[in-house]
Amino acid sequence: MTKAVEIVKITKTFPGVKALSNVEMSVKTGEVHAIVGENGAGKSTLMKILGGVYRPDDGQILIHGKAVVIKDVSDSVECGISIIYQELNLMPELTVSENVFITELPKMKATGIVRRGELYRKTRALMERVNIELNPDSLVNDLSVSEKQMVEILKALSHDSSIIVMDEPTAALSNVEVSKLYSIIETLKARGKTIIYISHRLKEIFDIADRVTVLRDGSFVATKDIKSLTQDDIVRLMVGRSVENFYNRDHATFGDTVIEIDHLSCAPYFQNLSFSVRSGEVLGIAGLMGCGREELAKVLYGLLNRTKGRVLINGIPTEVRHPREALRAGIQFVTEDRKDSGIFPLMSVKENLSINIIKKLCNIFSLLINTEKENRLLESYTKFMNLKYASDSQRVMFLSGGNQQKVVLARALAGECRVLILLEPTRGIDVGAKAEIYDLLGNLAKKGIAVIMISSDLPELITQSDRVLVMFQGQITGLLERNEMDEERIMQYATGTHFGEGFTGGAL
Ligand SMILES: Nc1ncnc2c1ncn2[C@@H]1O[C@H](COP(=O)(O)OP(=O)(O)OP(=O)(O)O)[C@@H](O)[C@H]1O
Ligand SMILES: [Mg+2]
Repeated sequence: MTKAVEIVKITKTFPGVKALSNVEMSVKTGEVHAIVGENGAGKSTLMKILGGVYRPDDGQILIHGKAVVIKDVSDSVECGISIIYQELNLMPELTVSENVFITELPKMKATGIVRRGELYRKTRALMERVNIELNPDSLVNDLSVSEKQMVEILKALSHDSSIIVMDEPTAALSNVEVSKLYSIIETLKARGKTIIYISHRLKEIFDIADRVTVLRDGSFVATKDIKSLTQDDIVRLMVGRSVENFYNRDHATFGDTVIEIDHLSCAPYFQNLSFSVRSGEVLGIAGLMGCGREELAKVLYGLLNRTKGRVLINGIPTEVRHPREALRAGIQFVTEDRKDSGIFPLMSVKENLSINIIKKLCNIFSLLINTEKENRLLESYTKFMNLKYASDSQRVMFLSGGNQQKVVLARALAGECRVLILLEPTRGIDVGAKAEIYDLLGNLAKKGIAVIMISSDLPELITQSDRVLVMFQGQITGLLERNEMDEERIMQYATGTHFGEGFTGGAL
C-alpha cells in the first residue's frame, strides 16, 4: 500500500512548550489511522501543521510520496487535506449549503449573484454520496452540534480531499450519531479516502481504526496494528503506566439532605421534578439530548428562571436567579461547553482559577490581591489536577482541550462549594486525567459535597454515581439505586421504552 501521509521528524515549539519533538508518522492510503495521547500530547498541533495553521520549526511532510511545504490553509487544501477541527469552524448565520461551498460558491459571471438552484443541487448530490440528510437551506445556527459536524464533513468532501482528518469528532455526539459517523467513515474508506481520526474514546479506536499512533508529551511512542493491541496496551503506551482501578470509587456514607428540588418546572423544558441529594452523595443524571437535563442545571445555577416549584438548600427555600446568588448559596456549576461559557479564554490560568474567589484572595482592608495566596492556590491545583501549561500567565485558550476542562473544574472547586453540578465532566479528557477526575469526585463526596453529575457517558454514570436519575421529555422516568444500574435499563428509561411495546413517546 502506498503512503498517503509521511511525517518526518517534525518539531514545533510554542513559547515555553515543546509541543512536538521529532515526530515521525506514516499513514497508508485508504486506512483509518487513529492518533491517541493524553491531553496536551500534541495531537491537534500535529494536525494543525498538516492543515497549514502552524508552520513546523523543523521536519518534512510528504503527501502521496511527494515532499510538500504547507504554508497556509489553501496549500493544505491543494494537497488534498481536509481537517475537521476540535473546535468547529462554521459560519452560523449562513446556510448549510453556503457553508459547505463557502470558498467556491457557484455565481453568475456577470452579476456575481449566487446561483441558488445549483448550490442546492450540488449540496444534495454531495449528501447523497455519504447518506447525510440535512436541509441545505437550514441556517447553521439552528442545527444541533452533531448536524454541524455533518456540515464540516460535507465541507471536507466538497474539496474532494483524499485525506480527511477528524479531531475528536464524537466528543459532542450521542450513541446513535456516533454510529452514523461510523457509517460515513466506512463509506469514505470504501471510496479510497484516507482518514486520520483523533479520539479519547478508546472503544471507538477499536471499532473503526486499522492502525493507531500513540503520542506522549510531544513525542512519537509507537504505531501499531489495532488488532495486535488491547485497550490496556494503548493506555500503557499513552500514559507510560497502567491506569488501575480506573472505574472504582469509594462510596462515602451520606449525611443530611443538602439540596432538595421540589416540584420544579421550567416551561417548556421540564416539568414537576422532585428529588434531593445528600451530603456525600453523587447523583447521576442520564437522558438524551433535549430531555431537559441541561436546562435543569441552568435553573439550579440561576442561568434560567424556573416557572414553578422550589429549591431548598439545607432545608431553606433559596431563590437563585443569577449565578451570583448560586455562588453565594454554595452552588458551583461546571459546564461542558468550555469554549462558550466555561473559561475566560483570554485570561491566564491563574486568573481563571481565582476569579470566583477574588474577595477571599484580597488582603483585609485592601483591594489588592494577595499574590502569594493566589500563587499557592495555583500551585495546589496544578498539583492536585496534574495541570499542564507553560507558565502562570499562559492564556487558557492556548491550553490543550483537556487541560482547559481541568481549569474549569479547578476553578469551581476553589470557590465555596456545597453543591457541585457537573455537565459532561470528562468530555474530551484523556483516560489518565479521567481517572484523576474520578478520584477527585470521590474525595469531594467524602468531604460532604453533594454532587449532581449530568453525563452521556453511561459507564461513567454507572460507576461514579450513588443513584442515577433518568429523564425523558422533561420528566423523571426512573431513579435507579446502585444495584439497579445497567446501561440497558438506563437507555430504556431515557428513551421512554420502559413502558413496553406500543409506547410512542408523547407526554407522560
Ligand atoms: N497556540 C499555542 N500557543 C501556545 N501553546 C500551545 C498552542 N497550541 C498548543 N499549545 C501547547 O502545545 C501542547 C500540545 O497541545 P495540543 O493541543 O496539540 O494537545 P492535544 O494532544 O490535542 O490535547 P487534547 O487531547 O487535550 O486536545 C500543549 O501543551 C498546549 O498547551
Ligand atoms: Mg486536541
